[in-house]
Amino acid sequence: MTGRSRVLVLGASGFVGRAVCARLATCGIAVRAMTRDSVKARPLQVLPALEIFSGSPHDDDALARALDGVDAAVNLVGILHQSRRVPFEKIHVELPRRIARACRAAGVMRLVHMSALNASAGGPSEYLRSRGRGEVALREEGGGLAVTVFRPSVIFGEDDSFLNLFAALVRPLPVVPLAGARTRFQPVWVEDVARAVASSLDDARSFGQSYDLCGPGTYTLADIVRFVAGLQGRRRRILPLPAWAGLAQAFVLEYLPGPVMTRDNLASMKMDSVCACPFPEFLGIAPAAMEAIVPGYLASAGPRGRYSGYRRGVGR
Ligand SMILES: NC(=O)c1ccc[n+]([C@@H]2O[C@H](COP(=O)([O-])OP(=O)(O)OC[C@H]3O[C@@H](n4cnc5c(N)ncnc54)[C@H](OP(=O)(O)O)[C@@H]3O)[C@@H](O)[C@H]2O)c1
Repeated sequence: MTGRSRVLVLGASGFVGRAVCARLATCGIAVRAMTRDSVKARPLQVLPALEIFSGSPHDDDALARALDGVDAAVNLVGILHQSRRVPFEKIHVELPRRIARACRAAGVMRLVHMSALNASAGGPSEYLRSRGRGEVALREEGGGLAVTVFRPSVIFGEDDSFLNLFAALVRPLPVVPLAGARTRFQPVWVEDVARAVASSLDDARSFGQSYDLCGPGTYTLADIVRFVAGLQGRRRRILPLPAWAGLAQAFVLEYLPGPVMTRDNLASMKMDSVCACPFPEFLGIAPAAMEAIVPGYLASAGPRGRYSGYRRGVGR
């Protein structure tokens, strides 16, 4: 599929990173997985020709060493919540700029960058604005590099933190007070995102391009929560919160460990997370719908799934 023989993946230990590394390995590409935490990256070690590179991408020397001898880099580093110590600007703007600079210095002329749908310097949240500034930084710093930017809607898959979070939240609640209930999403499967990254690596049509990535179905957040509850054999009433109550809820949740939700996350939901165009045609991928994939991992968490787990346990 591709002529790249060795690829550096930054953010390899994350949800998307694990899928991207597996897809690249399937394509016969040697992967160098850069991580600050090699323990977190341990599950990747089962992949053939995968090398774990321990180091921080914020360390210029480590970044230069990680880029030594690779043909391309894939940047999947991102955060959903900022802190005083780790602001969005550092992760979404300064880091892509430094990665692009380091790539040029190392002669690694191919870079794939994961941004987010609705990223724009004028976006409604600091998350989306920083993502937009990051894309601008890449254009400024990426002169001479063949850069491809992917901008996915929310991504689902077995280890996602989106559907799994709602599955955990709805379990104890007969009525779900939901902020942003009417915001629309087009969730995209992590394997389709990983295939998009792998297929684009060597495809010159994607050089210098940005692509929005969405799945085939459009759902409001309320639809998604009902879907997740239904898979667990539960019926839940959704109570859409007015803007002021949503803000108050996010304000409280923001102080919980995690955090589960912040006012900035809520601000991102002022815009629908839907694509204006279908999945990029040149990739030759028909993206999977949630209904085809999610029951395979979430339904097993519900009562019915637990019973089939027991049945499997006793050999039935
Ligand atoms: N998941 C989604 O629904 C979704 C939707 C749209 C866009 N995206 C974007 O897709 C990319 C991958 O997302 P994901 O869901 O895989 O995220 P994830 O599971 O949270 O993984 C993010 C990776 O970023 C690295 N990272 C986190 N904080 C860092 C820091 N302070 N300094 C350096 N590295 C740091 C981590 O690497 P180590 O800890 O191993 O160093 C981690 O492996 C991100 O850019 C994300 O914003 C995701």
